[in-house]
Amino acid sequence: MKVLSVASECVPFVKTGGLADVVGALPRVMGQAGVEMRVMLPGYPGVMRAIGKAKTVLEESDLFGGAGRVVAAKAAGIDLLVLDAPHLFERDGSLYTGPGGTDWADNPERFAALSWMAARVAMEGAGKWRPDILHGHDWQAGFAPYYLKKQGSALPTILTIHNIAFHGLAPRDKLSTLRLDPADFVQDGGFEFWGQVDALKAGLVWSDKITTVSPTYARELTRPEFGAGLHGVIEARASDLAGILNGIDTEAWDPTTDPLIAAPFKTPRGKARNKAALRWEFGLPEAGGPLCVVVSRLTEQKGLDLLIEALPALVDQGGQLILLGTGEAKLEAAFRKAAHHENVAVHIGYDEGLSHRLIAGADAILVPSRFEPCGLTQLYALRYGTIPLVSLTGGLADTVIPANPAALAKGVATGIQINPLTSHALALGLLDLCTLYQDKATWARMQRNAMAQPVGWEASAAAYARLYHEVATPA
Ligand code: ADP
Ligand code: GLC
Repeated sequence: MKVLSVASECVPFVKTGGLADVVGALPRVMGQAGVEMRVMLPGYPGVMRAIGKAKTVLEESDLFGGAGRVVAAKAAGIDLLVLDAPHLFERDGSLYTGPGGTDWADNPERFAALSWMAARVAMEGAGKWRPDILHGHDWQAGFAPYYLKKQGSALPTILTIHNIAFHGLAPRDKLSTLRLDPADFVQDGGFEFWGQVDALKAGLVWSDKITTVSPTYARELTRPEFGAGLHGVIEARASDLAGILNGIDTEAWDPTTDPLIAAPFKTPRGKARNKAALRWEFGLPEAGGPLCVVVSRLTEQKGLDLLIEALPALVDQGGQLILLGTGEAKLEAAFRKAAHHENVAVHIGYDEGLSHRLIAGADAILVPSRFEPCGLTQLYALRYGTIPLVSLTGGLADTVIPANPAALAKGVATGIQINPLTSHALALGLLDLCTLYQDKATWARMQRNAMAQPVGWEASAAAYARLYHEVATPA
């Protein structure tokens, strides 16, 4: 079974969020499940540097305004197909936005190009390699199933939704530029979305199967509050939709061997040295309450504005907070201000090593997301015996067993859940956290449960393998 995975991000080459972790993990875990996967990525500068000299497998002289070619290479153990198109991808700055923070005006062309060339690889192969399935991720790969089907290919396609908040919209006047049939610019059964061209919708309509990254998010997506205007499209395809939970890289995130933390540990007691190191690093005093951390993009999705409001409930109980994150200027400023409190510390930026030290040294991690397709940081935290406080949504709901009386009586709780998501409920959740933390026996039990929870890819790799076999075998 050969699968062409198409995405805009992939660790260790390019990452803005969890999408990159998942796309980077799949080739190895699927390899273990007998699936040969190649990852097709845009030739961003970082990707081009990582692959060095590579072999050209496909060329196109006019790819949305310049020449493009697909090169094959192996880097960091991953078989890559890279779309080398300097006019689209060779630029400084962030992946999706220009210097002013606004989207690159040609984002529609950039990712239509990725999808177009992915469809070509799917139909023509890359050298001798011919995929059996095209598996795209998010809107950046949305047009790949469309281009394939429009050219008469029957190759099975799957689209995974990691985050429905991003559609990849383009103005209608780009229809012909993007090689789209105007007849498909319709609301029902097409890719029209409120007068614009919608790349994600194209993927949802034209792919054979749709997956998302947790069972609860799969259900949520069919509801108006979560579907970002596409709930109807998803509902119509409910029989082709599956929620497959993300795993984490259990080698990179292994508390017993982690080279990025102060003192690797096997049991919750071993966390103490990491906690002390963390307090020292951030100049936080000794305190009687739990040391909480946040590792997150700072966006509306993550609900961290509510944490600013609820924070007194934590610090008044002797709790502490360290936040690592970057994103919206308003949230960055609010947390910088919050850090004036002696028990609050903030690091604005992106720092892989620090994310490990925080998750290893903390007592708890806070993830009060408004929506969370899966979420990875609560999974890292579980593995490190760091208790997650989460909202009841998406993958957070699927991976944390809340410390309600029944779960506590049975001794199976792993975290704290707040619902509904308001700053008041979050404050109450933080109070519960502080109370539980003082109950040393219960807390230790929760930590042991957390560390014992399977958070790797085993079950989900098997689920993807089953899905691949199902779509590749005509009924
Ligand atoms: P999302 O993809 O919505 O951002 P996830 O929880 O799925 O949320 O994935 C986020 C990933 O990015 C995790 O691997 C997390 O550790 C990492 N991350 C987020 N912000 C930072 C940061 N400021 N520094 C280091 N790692 C970060
Ligand atoms: C998205 C989601 C996140 C998920 C990640 C990987 O960025 O916001 O919840 O874990 O994709 O699937």
